[in-house]
Amino acid sequence: MPAVGKRTTPVRIGVIGTGTVGQWLLRAVHGLGARHGVELKVVAVGGRDGLVARPDGIDLEALLGLKAQGESFTQLGGVEHWAAALDGISEIDADVLVEVSQSPPSDGEPGLSHIREALGRGIAVATSNKWPVALAGVELAALARRNDVGFRAESTVMSGTPVLAALTDGLGGATPLRLRGVLNATVNAICSRMETGASYADALAEAQAAGLAERDPSADVDGLDAVAKLMVLSALVFQEQLELRDVSRRGLSGLDGGDARAAFERGERIREVATLDPGAQRRSVDVTAVSARDPLFAVEGTANTIRLEVEPLGEVSITGPGAGPALAGQGVFSDLIALARQSAALRASRRRP
Ligand SMILES: NC(=O)c1ccc[n+]([C@@H]2O[C@H](COP(=O)([O-])OP(=O)(O)OC[C@H]3O[C@@H](n4cnc5c(N)ncnc54)[C@H](OP(=O)(O)O)[C@@H]3O)[C@@H](O)[C@H]2O)c1
Repeated sequence: MPAVGKRTTPVRIGVIGTGTVGQWLLRAVHGLGARHGVELKVVAVGGRDGLVARPDGIDLEALLGLKAQGESFTQLGGVEHWAAALDGISEIDADVLVEVSQSPPSDGEPGLSHIREALGRGIAVATSNKWPVALAGVELAALARRNDVGFRAESTVMSGTPVLAALTDGLGGATPLRLRGVLNATVNAICSRMETGASYADALAEAQAAGLAERDPSADVDGLDAVAKLMVLSALVFQEQLELRDVSRRGLSGLDGGDARAAFERGERIREVATLDPGAQRRSVDVTAVSARDPLFAVEGTANTIRLEVEPLGEVSITGPGAGPALAGQGVFSDLIALARQSAALRASRRRP
């Protein structure tokens, strides 16, 4: 923490993606003030409309006002504009890039190139964008190490519940052996509702009305979202890069409410179980019945859980909420604050004689 009254130099941030998570984060940065011992200044924002930058700080009030009216950030005055976000990232002066855009499972682009470019230039990265990390997490972590900058992706797995910080930094030097978990809160909420009598269609509609499921819920109910999370865990915790085809997948959409109720009546529950067991060559996401003896039986509603077997500790388990924009925003915000502190400390050490 800086001493009271000591002047700090703001940590300069670029934010790519001004959707639900991006706007939540921009509001949080706007309201941060001098708390947490860091001062943050948003110097660039980008997305599908390219990137705008202003070295002395983007007017966040004006930006959020434009977004509220459905207008583009390109309407901001006094900014420099690049037509492609990647071109802007390769030129701006920033300390941390927050990548909260959306990229597809086919190639993770353009998010993957945004992250590569930033890390390659020595700019730290915090991201909630799953597919770039799922498809290239090992490479990105190595690139960050080579360039001596931070790379954090907390929100890609359990949103605001800190698992990656605990399983990477917290278990530094330990050897992860295998993990099982429930990684998709939306699917778990649907399973939980079906047990108590709702049909699949009604449980899905309720999840959508509560803002848990997207209007197009296919990534959740087909198991693809949990596959991405499993691949992120494999890359960042086990240091093993998987491809999409390495993970077997059976999603929720083949099931109906009757299956869940029948399982419940015989003392079991339907859960989407993610398994990563490199020693047994098992990497899967599978909607299946679990017995009351299985620890995953107790995971209810929008909770997520990960149980990791690790040498020399034994089993470490983390459970917490995993759905909703505030949670995703919080996960990125905690990464951003950690990276900003590192960046401020690095600058201070460079200033010392
Ligand atoms: N929402 C959650 O609960 C949650 C939880 C965990 C992780 N995430 C991840 O966090 C990221 C952001 O989520 P969100 O809910 O904020 O999504 P969103 O509301 O759909 O916003 C996505 C943003 O990405 C931008 N974008 C999309 N395609 C792009 C492209 N090809 N190039 C540049 N920018 C592009 C969009 O630009 P425009 O504004 O121009 O459309 C938009 O600003 C996603 O990767 C998501 O998977 C979300």
